[in-house]
Amino acid sequence: MFDINTLLRKNIKNLTPYSSARDEFQGEASVFLDANENAFGSPLPTAYNRYPDPMQHAIKLRLKEIKGLPVRNIFVGNGSDEAIDILFRSFCNPGVDNVIIVPPTYGMYQVSANINDVETKKVVLTEEYQLDLNGIAEAIDEHTKLIFICSPNNPTGNSINREDVETLLANFKGIVVVDEAYINFSRQKSFIQELTEYANLVVMQTLSKAWGLAGLRVGMAFASEEIIEVMNRVKPPYNVNEASQQLALQALQNVGQVNDWIKETLAQRDKLVLTLKDMPFVLDIYPSDANFILVKTTDATGIYNYLVDKGIIVRNRTNVELCEGCLRITVGTPGENTTLIETLQQYK
Ligand SMILES: Cc1ncc(COP(=O)(O)O)c(C=O)c1O
Repeated sequence: MFDINTLLRKNIKNLTPYSSARDEFQGEASVFLDANENAFGSPLPTAYNRYPDPMQHAIKLRLKEIKGLPVRNIFVGNGSDEAIDILFRSFCNPGVDNVIIVPPTYGMYQVSANINDVETKKVVLTEEYQLDLNGIAEAIDEHTKLIFICSPNNPTGNSINREDVETLLANFKGIVVVDEAYINFSRQKSFIQELTEYANLVVMQTLSKAWGLAGLRVGMAFASEEIIEVMNRVKPPYNVNEASQQLALQALQNVGQVNDWIKETLAQRDKLVLTLKDMPFVLDIYPSDANFILVKTTDATGIYNYLVDKGIIVRNRTNVELCEGCLRITVGTPGENTTLIETLQQYK
């Protein structure tokens, strides 16, 4: 059975979090002389002289409506990258514990592990870019705290088989993190619905992709109340700044606009695939549930350098395991995609 107390680092179990001025006072007041702010204002058209809400209540109330989850199950971070780091800092003892990652996958799991001095056990995906469940079962030991699954997966674009993730959730005594950064583009449904079923599930999402707010740095983690409580204790007090909170809240009213862009992105993705697949240097295009495609080519580095020369930047993934010869191409606007295609048509 899942028991958070056996997973938590001892120093975190005993941690008294920083208590900010605004944490200590709740209620009505008109004079705030408690946080050493500049009471006059900001040298800007908008005033940012007050510290932001440490718990981002307004955003969480809106997320509650959109995601159908109680506020106590929602963590908001400075990008989902912050949530990844906080999971390491909460659960993994440096130099002792380990996590499982399943390459090729999102690079920050490894970087965060390195920063936190936590070993990663790598269980490479199958040729179909699916989980090697036997490999994962063999890799798990008494010090394995987290398993990171990215679905839809970056950089391959495919969704991970749902039953395989459920097998892990049902059998692993640590935490299974399902990173759904690209879920808005996917045909698969989110794992958020499974939170009531699995106490060891953390679902991560972000406003950086479909929501078009990468510059604001707002990410979310959804999990049991006890996991969210730990993450809130470990996070820096004011981890999401006031401008980001206000703008994210405003953007979260605009679901219609985002849904239109998702539809357009998917239509553009299909068009891009149809055109690219007939190009002489394209060997394969992998099925995508995301806003990018992984394209296997005869010469990834040659094409990459050619495109850079023309002012077009894609991601060269040829040095990544199971991605030899591959470029990862983000779906752009119709104009950008046309420029890409016309430029590639000139490639010799
Ligand atoms: C799978 C995945 N997770 C998380 C992130 C980072 O998200 P955020 O911008 O919220 O930190 C990315 C960004 O590329 C990503 O591809």
